[in-house]
Amino acid sequence: MNIILFGPPGVGKGTQGEKVASEKNLDHLAMGDILRAAVREETQAGLKAKTYMDAGKLVPDDVVVAMIEDKIVDSDASGFLLDGFPRNVAQAEALASMLAKHSLKIDRTIFMDAPEENLIKRLCGRLICRACGFGFHRQYSPPLKSGCCDRCGGELYQREDDREDVIANRLRVYQEQTRPLLDYYQHQEGFFKLDAGGEMDAVYAALNKIV
Ligand code: AP5
Repeated sequence: MNIILFGPPGVGKGTQGEKVASEKNLDHLAMGDILRAAVREETQAGLKAKTYMDAGKLVPDDVVVAMIEDKIVDSDASGFLLDGFPRNVAQAEALASMLAKHSLKIDRTIFMDAPEENLIKRLCGRLICRACGFGFHRQYSPPLKSGCCDRCGGELYQREDDREDVIANRLRVYQEQTRPLLDYYQHQEGFFKLDAGGEMDAVYAALNKIV
């Protein structure tokens, strides 16, 4: 099974995507994580991406399309879950040709949405483990020990782009460039809309039903 999860920043794509992917044995291909790894490793693509990411802008399409194609082709799980790709119509068109080239198809395209005030609260309170990448939230899913990952004991940090000024820009970019994907996908087979404004377990139950 191949799945696309898309929606605004902070809606829970990463949190829910990781859970579904691990339960269904899918590769969780999170574009933001792939880009952050490239930035850490100082690859050519990572160096190019960093300035865009720090400002909350989209990284150029040619960079992200090439990176995701490699991951899709290398995937040896029973399917993949795309989180954060595609993020505009040009990327969706590039994905469609890429899938056709490799005789693959998408089974579920799931649009997650939540009110903007929830998104801002979720992003402002997010904490991530520097060692294993697991996500927490100061208020909604706090770690047992402050500043320390429950899974591996690693140090927790706040993402550079989770500052309020950058969040505002990411939400603007989302409205202008990513939300139009709704028109692109909503009449295609396998499209579902998911209200992701509720608590994590309720959102997961609804997502699992769709999957
Ligand atoms: P990326 O890392 O993909 O960021 P994003 O899309 O802005 O999404 P987030 O990771 O911020 O949010 P999420 O929906 O995954 O929420 P999460 O589950 O973590 O991309 C970062 C940057 O990379 C982009 O700005 C861009 O520059 C670049 N980029 C990435 N993809 C690109 C592309 N295709 N093209 C070009 N550039 C690209 O949840 C957030 C918090 O809320 C967590 O703390 C979580 O614990 C909490 N939470 C989650 N669900 C709930 C709930 N139901 N109730 C309460 N709290 C919740």
